[in-house]
Amino acid sequence: RWNAEEIIEDQIARIRAQVGSDEVILGLSGGVDSSVVAALLHRAIGGQLTCVFVDTGLLRWREGDQVMQTMAQHMGVKVIRVNAAARYFKALEGVSDPEAKRKIIGNLFVEIFDEEAGKLGNARWLAQGTIYPDVIESAGSRTGKAHVIKSHHNVGGLPEHMKLGLVEPLRELFKDEVRRLGVALGLPREMVYRHPFPGPGLGVRILGEVKPEYADLLARADAIFIEELRVAGWYDRTSQAFAVFLPVKSVGVVGDARAYEWVIALRAVETIDFMTAHWAHLPYDLLGKVSNRIINELRNVSRVVYDISGKPPATIEWE
Ligand code: XMP
Repeated sequence: RWNAEEIIEDQIARIRAQVGSDEVILGLSGGVDSSVVAALLHRAIGGQLTCVFVDTGLLRWREGDQVMQTMAQHMGVKVIRVNAAARYFKALEGVSDPEAKRKIIGNLFVEIFDEEAGKLGNARWLAQGTIYPDVIESAGSRTGKAHVIKSHHNVGGLPEHMKLGLVEPLRELFKDEVRRLGVALGLPREMVYRHPFPGPGLGVRILGEVKPEYADLLARADAIFIEELRVAGWYDRTSQAFAVFLPVKSVGVVGDARAYEWVIALRAVETIDFMTAHWAHLPYDLLGKVSNRIINELRNVSRVVYDISGKPPATIEWE
């Protein structure tokens, strides 16, 4: 029988044997996998672990503060927070091609992580939240998005000269096992069972060129959507749900005048493997409430639409 405590004890012993008294660094993304690795390593080697959390400005609403609160304040993990939003927005200026945006965001992450690792200087090991499905995917000859994903955040991707040994304690585990481990390690359920979030973050949910004001608007709209999904009991019934920023202006009435403002699209899907997906049949009342809140609480949004496309042919993300 699968037992989280036994796996944790076994991994702790293995990690200690592997790294001894060396320093270890870990890129914390706010996602489940890297958070579980952080919690596990913290338990195994405590202060020998330093996490680097890069706040790209393209994360979910207040996610940076949440990561610091959960991992640093609550769990006592050493976390260096890098506020890199300005750098990301600068690098993305004038870029509207989705794959170009992905590349820029991914490369910048590696660059910043490399800088931080250099400042620390004495790390000998790099810990990563690689899980079993990542190992399989990168072993195959797959190209396209999945490959881009892994080369960016998980498997590989770091400059050769860093010469760090890899610590990958989740390599043999499936996602649901990683989640159970996370709960057993004391991570909040809400974090462990969160919907997946793409590495490039809001960068691929703002269609076309990324601007700070778009990211701010989108993060707020997304937070309203997610909050209402949770209140209505629909969050756990959907596999992924989020808002998308459409860079088109649509007419609305403000007082006696007509105003041309932005459009927000809502996307919610049910899926087992993310390869195919159905749009979620959310109740009209819920959709209505989310739409009212977004339009009333966010200036500059005049219209909210709901995406009713299945995958295939539509993908889950809009870019
Ligand atoms: P699509 O849009 O291809 O998405 O139906 C399938 C799943 O993959 C996620 N996704 C990404 N994850 N980097 C990531 O880390 C990416 O560039 C990327 N693109 C899509 C998407 O959120 C969904 O869960």
